Amino acid sequence: MINQREQWGSKRGFVLAAAGSAVGLGNIWKFPYLVGENGGAAFILLYLVCVILVGLPVVIAEILIGRTTQRNPVGSFRELSQGNPFWMAVGGLGVLTGFLILSYYNVIAGWCLGYVVESFKGSFQQIENPALAGELFSSLSSKPHWTLLFHGLFMMITITVIYAGITKGIERASKIMMPALLVLILILVIRGVTLKGSAAGVGYLLKVDFSVITGKTFFLALGQAFFSLSLGMGALLTYGSYMSKKESIPGSALQIVILDTVIALLAGFMIFPAVFAMGMHPAQGPSLIFNILPVVFNSIPAGYFFRIVFFLLLTVAALTSTISLLEVITTFVVDEFRLPRKMAAIFLGIVVFVIGLPSALSFCGWQNVRLFGLTCFDFVDFISANIFLPLGGIFIALFVGWFWGAEKASSHLLEGAVNLTPFLVSAWSILIRFIAPVLILLIFLSSIGIL
Ligand code: PHE
Repeated sequence: MINQREQWGSKRGFVLAAAGSAVGLGNIWKFPYLVGENGGAAFILLYLVCVILVGLPVVIAEILIGRTTQRNPVGSFRELSQGNPFWMAVGGLGVLTGFLILSYYNVIAGWCLGYVVESFKGSFQQIENPALAGELFSSLSSKPHWTLLFHGLFMMITITVIYAGITKGIERASKIMMPALLVLILILVIRGVTLKGSAAGVGYLLKVDFSVITGKTFFLALGQAFFSLSLGMGALLTYGSYMSKKESIPGSALQIVILDTVIALLAGFMIFPAVFAMGMHPAQGPSLIFNILPVVFNSIPAGYFFRIVFFLLLTVAALTSTISLLEVITTFVVDEFRLPRKMAAIFLGIVVFVIGLPSALSFCGWQNVRLFGLTCFDFVDFISANIFLPLGGIFIALFVGWFWGAEKASSHLLEGAVNLTPFLVSAWSILIRFIAPVLILLIFLSSIGIL
């Protein structure tokens, strides 16, 4: 059965698919506003440190587990731990987290698709200020049929790609969508920085203001690095399980991390110059993309066209991430229950759509349904992104560094990585054994309010 497992057609295909998983709403929506609210370039510097010290080593560890065993998260841990139930549960937690993240992420992804359609229809043409855009957003998202229609449509598109398989589905889609994404973002960056008055936005991104950096900012940067790199739930592990042992893991990991970081930075250069050029306030937080940008485009020459480009960009970025989330659970079901991939993809897509209904309805009808004081959407987001991802990350680092053992793991890491020097191998093993688990533990404690 292992011999029949499909493999990526090329190293480039794998890198683009994994970078597609990493590049998502986290980069385009969340990173820019975190930068905006937390000290501009000082935050960017902190973010880069987190990516290098924690992100890269854990990316390598996850891909390594998957490639070594050629299995899904649960099967991988079972094999490497000889059936130890605790470690299998860690794999199971990853699969569960995939279900949960996909269920609400797909709702936002659906809005992005819905905004592409609304942009085509010209719905934002008459909207003159963010308050009106906010009203439009609430009125759209509060219509159950609008939110559910796009939630369903987006899930169907994701299912179609997974249905087609690793090379014919994910790899082919990533090879088209990732270059398209880069082109779309470059068009918008060029548009943004060439507007009159955009220099203030560039300055805002580049000014270094250490006075606003606190312990909390550090945790935000680390948490963002984690979510943005799709770490802690087995997405990269699953993609790694389709990788050939002839390819270099550290080389691929570095490319994935660089692509993810560059796109997050470009997203900043796309958004802030335009926001400043239009005289709007940058520290708007999460509403930036749905409330501010549709209005910003109204004051920009050819704004109708650029607004469509912008929401298309968000849609493509979200899609390459939802694909990786559905793939984690599909690989799990295909490996463990021997279900044919096509059937698994459709069945799981429908299940996740249904699990996502309470999150979707949190905006249209179920606003008052609360779990621990949070709407269903916020609750699922909180437990999966703030609790399960960091927990998964700590266990992955501890597993590779201590249980499996950095030494044994390194011997597998060297397969396909002929140029890896002993110095780099020791650096990685120190980071994965000591630095990564401790730092991730800190984000975890901070996100549950203990630090
Ligand atoms: N990395 C994706 C983003 O930045 C989100 C994601 C998290 C995708 C975990 C897969 C797994 O939007």
